Amino acid sequence: MKIFLDSANLEEIEKASKLKVVDGITTNPTLMAKSGANLSMAKLIKKICSLISGLVSVEGVAIKKDEIIKEGKELAKIAKNIVYKIPISEDGLAAAYELEKQGVKTNITLVFSLSQALLAAKVGASFVSPFIGRLEDNGEDGLKLIEEIVSVFNRYQFKSQIIAASVRNVYHVKKAAFLGCHIATVPYKVLTQMYRHFLTDKGLQVFLADWQKIKK
Ligand code: E4P
Repeated sequence: MKIFLDSANLEEIEKASKLKVVDGITTNPTLMAKSGANLSMAKLIKKICSLISGLVSVEGVAIKKDEIIKEGKELAKIAKNIVYKIPISEDGLAAAYELEKQGVKTNITLVFSLSQALLAAKVGASFVSPFIGRLEDNGEDGLKLIEEIVSVFNRYQFKSQIIAASVRNVYHVKKAAFLGCHIATVPYKVLTQMYRHFLTDKGLQVFLADWQKIKK
């Protein structure tokens, strides 16, 4: 399974990229606004794309089909590793179909149901992003949705890759991996929690203490 970092914070991206476990980045307008970088949007996107060799999902604000296509083409010009993120809608699906035909990779986002994911796959989106955490906030089972989408995409051999998004904890990542999800996009905090375990810390303390007892 691939791991993407869900962040537009340059410091986090630099630190995560040094770990050599991050295969790509996802951003959204909220993450961009919170990035803390004193850069124009285009410069920030360019900088993020230079920090990582994998794909970088960037979301725009266009709503109508023609505007979405125009925005997607403009954003794709910023760097070779850009994926254009489109919130699901009738116009968004139609635009994704056109953009994919013209060689612009798309990521259909704000996906909260199997039917939405199915349509994203039908139009040939490179990526589909179901949101686990936000569904759970709404009292729904986000991981069940991942399971359903993985099962249906496998059964019908859809090429779109599923990105488990709105990940809030390590359990979400582990379950997404277990369910066969292609990618999980994780906040930096969750990434660092993935390599920690209290028994590792406790075990290390004991090993270090016992090492001191050995006659040198
Ligand atoms: C996905 O690509 C989104 O950027 C992200 O996962 C949204 O997560 P949130 O629900 O924590 O904002």
